[in-house]
Amino acid sequence: MKRVVIFASGSGSNAENLIKFFQNSDNVSVIQILTNNPHAKVLDRAKRLKVSALSFNRVAFTKTNDVLNILKVSNPDLIILAGFLWKFPETILNVFPNKVINIHPALLPKFGGKGMYGMHVHNAVVENKETETGITIHYVNENYDEGATIFQAKCEVFPTDTAEDVAAKIHALEMEHFPKVVEKLLNE
Ligand code: GAR
Repeated sequence: MKRVVIFASGSGSNAENLIKFFQNSDNVSVIQILTNNPHAKVLDRAKRLKVSALSFNRVAFTKTNDVLNILKVSNPDLIILAGFLWKFPETILNVFPNKVINIHPALLPKFGGKGMYGMHVHNAVVENKETETGITIHYVNENYDEGATIFQAKCEVFPTDTAEDVAAKIHALEMEHFPKVVEKLLNE
C-alpha cells in the first residue's frame, strides 16, 4: 500500500477530494492530515472522513524536528501540499527527496511566489487581463513554487470573468485532475 500524507492550511477541499478518491483503493491510502492551523476546516473534514489529523506550530515545523519525526513514523511514499501556506523546510525535503508535491492555482511560473495563494492569485489573473489560467502540480524545492512541473491544465479567462469566476474554474480543474495525477505518480 502506498502511503500519502497531506499538508493543508485552510478549507481542505482538495484534501477531502483526495481522501474520497482513494478511499476504496487497494494500493493508495491517505493516512494522515497535518495542518499548521488548529482552526482549519480541513480538521473537520478529516474527522468526518476518519483520517488521522494533527496540527503543529511553527517551532515544531522549523525549529525542532517534531514534524519531521512525525513524518518519519508515518513513512509516506508521497507528501502532498494541498493549500498549505508555509514554506516547506529543507530539513524535511532532504529526508523525503522527490516525494513532496504541491498544487498551485495558476500556470507557474506565472503568479507564483510568496503571498501568491488562493484569491490573491485569481485577483492578479483578472487584473492582468489574462486570457487563460490553470493549475500546476509540481515538485517542491526550497523556493516557493519553483520545483519541476509534473502537470498543468488550462482554462479560459473571459473579459467578463470576476476573480470568483476564475476561482470556480480552478476549483473544478483541481477536483478533476489532482487525484488522477497523484495516482499516476504513485504507480510509476
Ligand atoms: C487550492 O486552490 C490550491 O491550489 C491553493 O489553495 C487552495 C486550497 O483550497 N494553493 C495555493 O494557493 C498555494 N500557493 P482547499 O483548502 O479547499 O484545498
